[in-house]
Amino acid sequence: MNLKHIAIIMDGNGRWATQRKRPRTFGHQAGVKTVRSTIETCVKHGIPNLTLFAFSSENWSRPEKEVQRLMELFMRSLNKETAELLKQGVKQSFIGDLNRFSEKLQHKMFEVSELHPEDLKLNLNIAVNYGGKWDVVDAAKNFASDVLNGKTSIDDLSEEQFNNYLSLGDGPMVDLLIRTGGEHRISNFLLWQIAYAEIFFEDTLWPDFDATTFSQIINKFQQRERRFGQTSEQIKEQKDA
Ligand code: FPP
Repeated sequence: MNLKHIAIIMDGNGRWATQRKRPRTFGHQAGVKTVRSTIETCVKHGIPNLTLFAFSSENWSRPEKEVQRLMELFMRSLNKETAELLKQGVKQSFIGDLNRFSEKLQHKMFEVSELHPEDLKLNLNIAVNYGGKWDVVDAAKNFASDVLNGKTSIDDLSEEQFNNYLSLGDGPMVDLLIRTGGEHRISNFLLWQIAYAEIFFEDTLWPDFDATTFSQIINKFQQRERRFGQTSEQIKEQKDA
């Protein structure tokens, strides 16, 4: 399968709840179910990497109560889902500036990220307090520090090497980026890693994003021609060779 990495901006929980005259948190709770089904679909299709945007560095400016509920939901989901995810072959990792979370939540994320399934099927990266610009600046700082410590030199810096300093490390670039909820924006999610991603903007609100809709997007992705700067004729010649 040429689809090695899917990234998703899970948008629309708040509107989904408001449509039902319920508090926004109700939408986030429903969103967790969609996270579960999305993971299952990835495992079923043999997609080895999934990165989910769960909380952006800008989300702290939401009403305090909503932020607090999201933190509780996040903690509860880690406690509740981790054992089952391990059984399914899912390895969880967290990307973002984790220092801003409570000690308890930081500890939990560390604990969960140390667990490895026996039969690895999916690397699940959960982006929390994450911003694409932060990721690039953080990588630049770490690279500069390695230069100062004599571990590397400026002349050795290549795109591949720089990639290793980013939060997803040497994992594959994003092939398919999906945003639910109808907005056509990247919202400071992965910036470097989506350089050649196919992008799908989906009107469905995240809690309604079911396995059928997700599988349809995967099928549409397979029909897109990815040229990486080459011509259509070149791609056909390479396929025929
Ligand atoms: C965006 O919808 C969604 C979020 C900011 C939170 C996403 C969190 C979850 C799906 C649940 C927890 C996740 C994990 C991985 C356990 P929005 O609130 O911006 O919706 P709106 O645009 O309709 O207001």
